[in-house]
Amino acid sequence: MTQPRCVTRLVRGMPTSDGAGVRLTRVIGIPELRNLDPFLMLDHFGSEEAADYIAGFPNHPHRGFETVTYMLEGRMRHRDNQGNEGLLVSGSVQWMTAGRGLVHSEMPEQEEGRMSGFQLWINLPAAQKMCAPRYQDIAPERIPEIEPLAGAKVRVLAGEYGGLRGPVDAEATSPLYLDIALPAGASLEVPVPAGHAAFAYVFEGRAELAGQTVGTDVMALLSDGEQLLVAAGDAPARLILVAGRPLREPIVQYGPFVMNHPHEIQQAMLDYQAGRFGPV
Ligand code: FE2
Repeated sequence: MTQPRCVTRLVRGMPTSDGAGVRLTRVIGIPELRNLDPFLMLDHFGSEEAADYIAGFPNHPHRGFETVTYMLEGRMRHRDNQGNEGLLVSGSVQWMTAGRGLVHSEMPEQEEGRMSGFQLWINLPAAQKMCAPRYQDIAPERIPEIEPLAGAKVRVLAGEYGGLRGPVDAEATSPLYLDIALPAGASLEVPVPAGHAAFAYVFEGRAELAGQTVGTDVMALLSDGEQLLVAAGDAPARLILVAGRPLREPIVQYGPFVMNHPHEIQQAMLDYQAGRFGPV
């Protein structure tokens, strides 16, 4: 018998704004859910209104963790102070390992139309927090897709599903990141590595997760186990299912710096102010 996961808690995100005024919903990283080791933050952005996103995220630093941007719709230009640049298009993923630090901007490359997606922050273990920054820019066609049953679609961003392996290499937390779309009435058993912290976030329709109804824009935290029963009710449903190995280390966060000890945060601020994150 495989051990099923069930829903332990539902969390609705908090509307907020970040960057130069981008409106978004924060789901992890709020008072109700400070973090979910190894996940530090989850933002869901989605709007047809340019005013909600046009200001973008001008230059800002990061140190000590990874940021994962999954663009569902829209175009965003990424540039950092070490000469790296990339365009995130609909369906693409950018997996950025900030490591010891960089300064970058994430700016919309559209003046109208819908922009939507997710940004997830994943912690790094102490031994890797000061590694060299690294990018995995993954074009939409590099993300494997499977149709496990008629009308259903699963995209494997990271980890494994249905014999497919996602293109991301993130050894420390060994994440699973799936985008699951189901037609009305369909259900799937999805293996989730035992011992991983896991959540699902429904962003279209309503899903039944292990028999519990989860509405649109609601996150379900999951108990431990080896699989999750995911079903759509009387309408199509779409969700992300994300899991990662907990690091079980102290977390000290100050905005975009996430370290293990307060003195490392002070050092990060000193390094940033002294230009040791590179030229800005
Ligand atoms: Fe950033």
